[in-house]
Amino acid sequence: MNSVIYIRNASQVVTVAGASRAPKRGPKMEELQIIHHGGVVVQDDRILFVGSDQDAEEFVEDQFGHVKENIRLIDASGKIVTPGLIDPHTHVVFAGSREKELEMRLQGSTYIEILKQGGGILYTTTQTRAASEEQLLDESLKRLNRFLEYGVTTIEAKSGYGLTVEDELKQLRVARRLNETHPIDIVSTFMGAHAVPVEFKENPDDYVHIVIEEMIPQVAEEGLAQFCDVFCEEGVFTVEQSERILEAGKRFGLIPKIHADEIVQFGGAELAAKVGAISADHLLKASDEGIKRMAEAGVVAVLLPGTAFFLMEEPANARKIIEAGVPVALSTDRNPGSSPTESLPLIMNLACLTMKMTPAEVIAACTINAAHAIGRAGEIGSIEVGKKADLVIFDAPNYQYLQYNFGVNLVDSVVKNGNLVVERRK
Ligand code: NIG
Ligand code: FE
Repeated sequence: MNSVIYIRNASQVVTVAGASRAPKRGPKMEELQIIHHGGVVVQDDRILFVGSDQDAEEFVEDQFGHVKENIRLIDASGKIVTPGLIDPHTHVVFAGSREKELEMRLQGSTYIEILKQGGGILYTTTQTRAASEEQLLDESLKRLNRFLEYGVTTIEAKSGYGLTVEDELKQLRVARRLNETHPIDIVSTFMGAHAVPVEFKENPDDYVHIVIEEMIPQVAEEGLAQFCDVFCEEGVFTVEQSERILEAGKRFGLIPKIHADEIVQFGGAELAAKVGAISADHLLKASDEGIKRMAEAGVVAVLLPGTAFFLMEEPANARKIIEAGVPVALSTDRNPGSSPTESLPLIMNLACLTMKMTPAEVIAACTINAAHAIGRAGEIGSIEVGKKADLVIFDAPNYQYLQYNFGVNLVDSVVKNGNLVVERRK
């Protein structure tokens, strides 16, 4: 018999069902389609059944009554089951760390000042260029293991610390190897336009030329990425350069994403709508007009309250963005400079406590809307029959409790692709 897991007696099964075609917006973000006192049955890597305790018992008896001893039973009494958490924005493949910059920022240096002095992204670029694929793999693996412990079962991962053709490809190849070997699924994004490397400080357009003419075609040829991202920001890449890069990506089948309006209001949200980006991320300083256009164009807003917290900035105006009808997702932005954490649950806490997102909106943002931000909502992001068996059991009596008992890892167990990959000792 194939492998079967039966999770029974959960106090809530938070399915987040019914939004696989289009992301949740506005008041719909509050509707989580909860089954009180329910169960989930998983066979191989798929969800086979989800329903009330009674219906689940009958289903299991009916389907597997004769081979009950082969079923892995998980008692979830007093606990909740949610879809596996999805992190749609990370820079997880890199070498080294930047704790020194925290001290510099505490003394008054800004993030962009540090970058302009050759620190920040450029410091990590030096470390990443010097690292072998094996070294990058080892460092990144530790981070992935931590993500899994926090209930994250799928992440997006960007390049952008290579900034040469070979080093960008190296980062993306490492992401591909991690995807093949680690339980977490990794969706890759090419982000050669993460910073202008020092060699091109005086002629950034020459670097843009390399991104467009050399990097994008090779990334596409090797099938190394699905998305193309740009750091569209004052002092980094202009709106015009960003548009050229994203349009070039589109010609090679790479779907646009944008780091938009993070530090100053710069027209990033407007550009996201114009190029038909799947998501625009950060948005701390997005204009009202930009937000309106994102809503019209159906661009997902990926908000990163951990980055705002760590950079000691006001977070994005989530309430305004949700009320404008833009679907919102959340992410760690895991990177060595502006958000060194793998704790998506902590980001959820920050979204609730610093951006006033409700506990229900936060769950929608880290499941189905995050799936939409990486084009995977047909496969993941909700507990529905036929979807991938990616599930988290939290040691919490209801979903609100996750935002209440903050800063604590409440993950009890994680099922990824139908395998029990995290099992907390009691
Ligand atoms: O999303 N803002 C640009 N990129 C990353 C930070 C990368 C870094 O500092 O290493 C971000 O915050
Ligand atoms: Fe980022």
